[in-house]
Amino acid sequence: MNEKFYLTTAIDYVNGAPHIGHAYEKILSDVIIRHKRQLIDNAFMLTGTDEHGIKIQKTAAAKNITPKELCDENFSKFENAWKELEISYDKIIRTTDEEHKKVVKQIFNKLLKNGDIYKHSYTGLYCSGCESFLSPKDLTEDGLCPDHLKKPEEITEENYFFKLTKYKVKIAEYIKNNPGFILPEIRVNELLNQLENIEDISVSRTKSSVQWGIGVDGDDTQTIYVWIDALSNYITAIGYDINNPSEQFKKLWPADVHVIGKDIIKFHSIYWLAILMSLELPLPKTIYAHGWITIDQSKMSKSLGNVIAPHDVLKAFNLTEPDAFRYYMASAAQSGKDGNYSDEDFKEKVNADLANNIGNLLNRTLNMLVKYFDGEIKQEFISNKSCKIAIMAENTKTQIIEAFNKYEIAEAANLIVTFSDSVNKYVTDNAPWSLAKEEKTVECGQVLYNVLEAMRYIAIMLYPYCPNIAKDILIQLNENIDFKYQNLTWGKLKIGKITQKENIKPVFLRLDSKFATDKKKD
Ligand code: ME8
Ligand code: MG
Repeated sequence: MNEKFYLTTAIDYVNGAPHIGHAYEKILSDVIIRHKRQLIDNAFMLTGTDEHGIKIQKTAAAKNITPKELCDENFSKFENAWKELEISYDKIIRTTDEEHKKVVKQIFNKLLKNGDIYKHSYTGLYCSGCESFLSPKDLTEDGLCPDHLKKPEEITEENYFFKLTKYKVKIAEYIKNNPGFILPEIRVNELLNQLENIEDISVSRTKSSVQWGIGVDGDDTQTIYVWIDALSNYITAIGYDINNPSEQFKKLWPADVHVIGKDIIKFHSIYWLAILMSLELPLPKTIYAHGWITIDQSKMSKSLGNVIAPHDVLKAFNLTEPDAFRYYMASAAQSGKDGNYSDEDFKEKVNADLANNIGNLLNRTLNMLVKYFDGEIKQEFISNKSCKIAIMAENTKTQIIEAFNKYEIAEAANLIVTFSDSVNKYVTDNAPWSLAKEEKTVECGQVLYNVLEAMRYIAIMLYPYCPNIAKDILIQLNENIDFKYQNLTWGKLKIGKITQKENIKPVFLRLDSKFATDKKKD
């Protein structure tokens, strides 16, 4: 298999600790990459941290530490959070890595050499939250940044400028000619409108205002603009070098998808494309913009005091594995839409889907297998591919692959639950306990076989969301731990004695409601 899949996430600012909004994006990305690994051998996930810029500089100054100390401290928090959530990235890049800094300088020089960068004196309104100049018409009525609700700072400086206007028409054409480039597609028009009004952008700041960044080669008065630095991570991390790109770079680039939040689409589909065009590199295939995670329906913010760290959720619910949280977050919003986190919802959703629906189905079926057949699946129980459940299982599998191709991650999770629902209904309709009583042994065994084979499908399809639960299901089915889709065809469930009473345990324990109720009280 020569096919490859290269996924990147946004790189997070390390001016604070990770919250569940950051976690949402990394979980979505991890679910996607794990799914791709079920299908192809060469699937690569990159994540990282964005460590330069005025925002980091200011936060460090306020804490009386150096920017690097702040970065190191917070980088560890991100790294630990991703470990706890079992984010299976192949590489995590820090923009303070020496290799990255070296190549960003090369990139800047190349743009200069191409004549795409020029020096220009400029007055503008800078929002440090966005790390971006805003135009007066972007602001709220009160003159605030609409995203950060802070007054931007007026800055006059002589900076380097990038000729974004030169690439405007080419970018518009690329967006229009590639319908899957920006997903979901509802974002396309908004973006084309922004492109209409685009101007050249400042790509450096004076050293006197921003010291914390990558310097421009041969001009020690200027620091490279943090977004140029940050966006370049997608190529520097895999070994891009102007003169000597690595084999890995040649194999992986262009990215198959940049997974980002809806607030930074402009940077990715306008600025980044222009940079790549100037570098004469191939363009990414898709920019997938997810929505916003709110908490109890309000925006997470330090001033509201409602910022939740992913670790807090696991701790509060006594979870030693991240599966339930991963599952909930990945299902929190329809593709590209906003989603909401609440303790109550979390508990209800995972209890309903993972414990009651999927977990119970496995548990009671294995118990019946022990009761009626001493835990043995006999040859004559095997059903063929044309039985109703087999057809449903295959359809679900196909629909899930299609959903993933459109980055419909919550929708794909829902397909698994719907399938599990149907299998539960099949059990009720076929009442294996009555068949056993009537001594219709083979019919009874066939029903149990169908359900357990369906469970094998469910485990493999659930794997990207809940790797530990999926593994437990396969263990209880006495299956090899192998999540490749290649093995997911009907009728491969092992036969013979697969279980005994002592081995049957719930794969997911219902969450107790105590935490949520306690919190509501205070
Ligand atoms: O934007 N819900 O970093 P960042 C969902 N360094 N997603 C959220 C979120 C929320 N409440 N809050 C943040 C940056 N995000 C830049 C990116 S990429 C070359 C540079 C998402 O720490 C946000 O949309 O502000 C972004 O995709 C990511 O988390 C990092 O946000
Ligand atoms: Mg942000």
